[in-house]
Amino acid sequence: MKAQIEQTRIAIEDFVITDATSLEAFRIQFIGSKGSIKQLFGGLKEVPNEEKRAVGQLLNELRQLAEGKFESSKDALETTESNDSTIDVSRPGEPIALGARHPLSIVRSEIISIFERIGYTVSEGPEIEDDWHNFSALNFPPEHPARDMQDTFFIEKGEREMALRTHTSSVQVRVMESSTPPIRTISPGRVYRNEAISARAHCFFHQVEGLYIDKNVSFADLKQTLDYFAKALFGEKARIRLRPSYFPFTEPSAEVDVSCTICNAKGCNVCKHTGWLEILGCGMVDPNVLKASGIDPEVYTGFAFGMGIERIAQLKFKVNDLRLYSENDVRFLNQFKGVNF
Ligand code: PHE
Repeated sequence: MKAQIEQTRIAIEDFVITDATSLEAFRIQFIGSKGSIKQLFGGLKEVPNEEKRAVGQLLNELRQLAEGKFESSKDALETTESNDSTIDVSRPGEPIALGARHPLSIVRSEIISIFERIGYTVSEGPEIEDDWHNFSALNFPPEHPARDMQDTFFIEKGEREMALRTHTSSVQVRVMESSTPPIRTISPGRVYRNEAISARAHCFFHQVEGLYIDKNVSFADLKQTLDYFAKALFGEKARIRLRPSYFPFTEPSAEVDVSCTICNAKGCNVCKHTGWLEILGCGMVDPNVLKASGIDPEVYTGFAFGMGIERIAQLKFKVNDLRLYSENDVRFLNQFKGVNF
């Protein structure tokens, strides 16, 4: 019996535990309910009475030895498992699926970078706007239809009636109020209109506003800036044309078309066989707007323009349904992987 105990003791000491499997094998061989220590205890009844005490003590020591080794090996394994030194750095990595930038983000950063190259800064304003910045300061008469519930989402905020801004022109006013000319800034942002959602209209979309105020700014400067912009965005072959239009906050006003990038102005479905695509509205800032924003119209003049980011993205990426931009369908979004223009 004593010889068996001694053999087991040596076996316990020599047993090499390196991982969870060998730890479990150790437990089964020595400590488990069918393990050798249990069996040795079972043999205790055959030991002569006068030796029982001494052998019992040896067995208890054996059990402590095995349990001690088990516990300390277990602890050691647990700490090395969470220790970086056991990570096999030569193992090939699991590929991580990369997302794509949203097409509207791609277009917005492109527009920003084109204007930054000619000295424009980026400014932003709140999406929840007051009547003054969204309408009144922009020379909208009180009865103007855009103020109507049908176009504008009004919300109540405390005592004041506020609205979700219907265009980024509100940021023009904020910039003019808070700075002195020369001002050269673009304001990208989300705008809201109370429209039924369809392929061609949505209740929210994105615009980029441009504003340039200084002494002697002329309509020729506006035209030149937009020509530069169209060529930078659509390529050297792009041409623009201006059609007279009306906005309360600009006088004179124009709508700007770019030569159709899809058919090279030859005529196709997208340009409705005209060879031209409308991309933005613009004009010389109305003296009333300058005055309302604290800028002397006798000293300064300026121009403003505004465009829809969705519209530009539609032309760039041939996306023909506005709803796709906000549905978060990965099949749509994944198509923009690696797109950088
Ligand atoms: N705010 C106008 C719109 O939403 C666009 C615009 C901006 C027109 C600046 C002229 C000057 O349609």
